[in-house]
Amino acid sequence: METKTTIDSLCDHVGRTVTLSGWVYNTRASGKIAFIIVRDGTGLCQCVLEKNDETAAFFDEARKLPQESSLEVTGTISADERAVGGYELKVANVRVVQISRDYPITPKPHGVDFLMKNRHLWFRSKRPWHIFRIRATAIDAIRRFFNENGYILVDTPIFAPAAGEGSQTLFQVDYFGEPVYLAQTGQLYVEAACMSHRKVYCFGPTFRAEKSKTRRHLTEFWMVEPEIAYASLDDVIDIAEDFVRSVVERVLCDHRDELIELGRNIEPLEAVSKPFYRMTYTEAAELLRGPNARELLEHDLTEKKARVAKLDKQITELDAVAKGGGKQWEKDKAAAEVIVAREERSELEEQIRNIPHHMELAANFAWGSDLGGSDETIISRLHDRPVFVTHYPKYVKAFYMRDDRSDDRVTECFDLLAPEGIGEIIGGSAREEDLDRLLARMKHDNMPQEDYEWYLDLRRYGSVPHGGFGLGFERTLAWLCGLKHLREAVAYPRMMGKFYP
Ligand code: 4AD
Ligand code: MG
Repeated sequence: METKTTIDSLCDHVGRTVTLSGWVYNTRASGKIAFIIVRDGTGLCQCVLEKNDETAAFFDEARKLPQESSLEVTGTISADERAVGGYELKVANVRVVQISRDYPITPKPHGVDFLMKNRHLWFRSKRPWHIFRIRATAIDAIRRFFNENGYILVDTPIFAPAAGEGSQTLFQVDYFGEPVYLAQTGQLYVEAACMSHRKVYCFGPTFRAEKSKTRRHLTEFWMVEPEIAYASLDDVIDIAEDFVRSVVERVLCDHRDELIELGRNIEPLEAVSKPFYRMTYTEAAELLRGPNARELLEHDLTEKKARVAKLDKQITELDAVAKGGGKQWEKDKAAAEVIVAREERSELEEQIRNIPHHMELAANFAWGSDLGGSDETIISRLHDRPVFVTHYPKYVKAFYMRDDRSDDRVTECFDLLAPEGIGEIIGGSAREEDLDRLLARMKHDNMPQEDYEWYLDLRRYGSVPHGGFGLGFERTLAWLCGLKHLREAVAYPRMMGKFYP
């Protein structure tokens, strides 16, 4: 009887004969011996195939199996530290399930655009494989934090009758002849739910018609939003701090090696301990206008220019190889590397063009305007742990935020900026519980009161101070994994102009 197993449990099968089912990751053959690296979804295993009487029937086909062909392979397992995954399978039999021809994603480097168009296949590559395992763990950590701390999960609707976060980023949908919108947030609905269960959360996809094509914006992203009755701004900030720390800890604990494999420097993640920094918006504005911000960007400019010069040189050299008279595989490899180097250079050139503008924005930052992406990056990079920025001017923030009773110009809110230049991963606040203040703000924002009557009822019937926050999941995952762009943090990224596959 053959034992079917998976690569992640090979440790239980040393010395025994097992059958693995999977796909060809890579093959290498020399004379009478072939190495087939098999992946089965749980890991990689090196399968060693020797040509002898037993294997003669399939040796020639198996040694040339193209990348991503599906197969079942039977053989004995031995522990081998040198082999990928730590175990090796000595092949006794191979059964081909399907032969894959011309798999587009080869081991040579590919540009991101190409990979994104092949997202449905790119999934199988190592890097996305690691990222999605970490994503699954982070989601589990998020749910656990709330489930184990007395929060009740309340799922909120995706079809929403009105804006939750300003009318500029609404996707309108035809709902049997009436306009509705894809939810930008579940917050207003969890506010209602926390008056029933006290501590609640929702976690689901949210939608923003973001017309900006930046590395931090998706049009469809996941957000987790706790909401707590009788909570003050400080209570909510404390919860956010414990929450973020617990997610980081869990990911570090379960995926340390994978993070390293992704090229993530884990030191900054290990430094994520309490307390996070806290500063007011007014203090943040001073920081932006000050010398530290300026020095940081000047230093960036010098560094990036040096890197471009280095890439220029590399590209010239690689180009010469690609167009030269060498072996075909060498030319192909160089040509592939040129594409990747050009991609990096063009990204850097764009950053270099932007830095003077960012310096100007920071130096002239005027009290009353919102922090822009580049401002957040500066503040975040000037700190080695996450930073809470609190008390923004009220009119740059959403209508539901609570007026600060001691300073009417600002609101009781916060953004959490993740370190290493990531910027905002959480937005949260105390909510305005006073009906008249809320109505006044809605009037100021020209909001149609009739669409929000149900929400206003929460202020009519047993209104209490309450608050919560929303954590953008892909931004958080991008930070954890060290991804430059959110598109890698989600299975099928949706951005302006991009919705395939
Ligand atoms: O700051 P935002 O807009 O806050 C809210 O939606 C509140 N209703 C949350 C609450 O208090 N319950 O969004 C929250 C987070 C941001 O901090 C950011 O991480 C993420 O959602 N986010 C985006 N992520 C990817 N792409 C976008 N276009 C995003 N817009 C916001
Ligand atoms: Mg925000």
